[in-house]
Amino acid sequence: MKNKIGIISLVLWVLTVGLFAIFFVKGTTTVSSDQRRAILLSPSEKDLVLGEMRTMLTAVNGVLGALSENDMKKAALAASSAGMAMAVDTSPILMAKLPLDFKELGMGTHKAFDDISAAIGKGATLPEILKSMHQITNRCVACHQVNRLSSAELSFDKRQNQFALNVEKNYEWKNYQK
Ligand code: HEC
Repeated sequence: MKNKIGIISLVLWVLTVGLFAIFFVKGTTTVSSDQRRAILLSPSEKDLVLGEMRTMLTAVNGVLGALSENDMKKAALAASSAGMAMAVDTSPILMAKLPLDFKELGMGTHKAFDDISAAIGKGATLPEILKSMHQITNRCVACHQVNRLSSAELSFDKRQNQFALNVEKNYEWKNYQK
């Protein structure tokens, strides 16, 4: 009897970990109206990711502005404002919703900002810094070309008498109808 419970709990454990692993790799996605991959987040998670995006745009703007004034200290500071430190408090639930390749590209971008900041500190030349900045903007472009964010909330649908996803308009509903 004891043994059986042990086996059942082991099977449940493996299933739970396995499911989480699948989620961690695939994230929660569907196809958006413009055929990009749409990542489904709650409204507040979407706000958080978009806030990070604006921080990165501000960092790019800050680095270029500082470089144009030949102010290397300011350029390094602007680059580090979009470094890994800004991504540390991302919740595990949000992380699970983002597909693995999205997480890798996103984290790699934050790291690249830190690397630029360090390189400027070590006396990198203007062409070297610009080359690294271009490699960063390549990442922005690559990710935006294939990804989109959409917010979805689970709410109780009285007509269907069940919980249903309340999805923004840039979704195609057919994705949810079996
Ligand atoms: C790992 C993927 C990824 C990377 C890398 C990335 N972005 Fe984004 N970004 C997104 C997604 C997804 C959106 C939402 C687009 C949509 O829903 O149409 C977005 C939206 C934005 C927005 C709009 C913000 C708002 O408030 O609406 C800005 C600005 C932005 N990104 C800037 C950048 C910049 C600058 C970089 C590079 C330094 C960058 N992003 C790198 C995925 C990424």
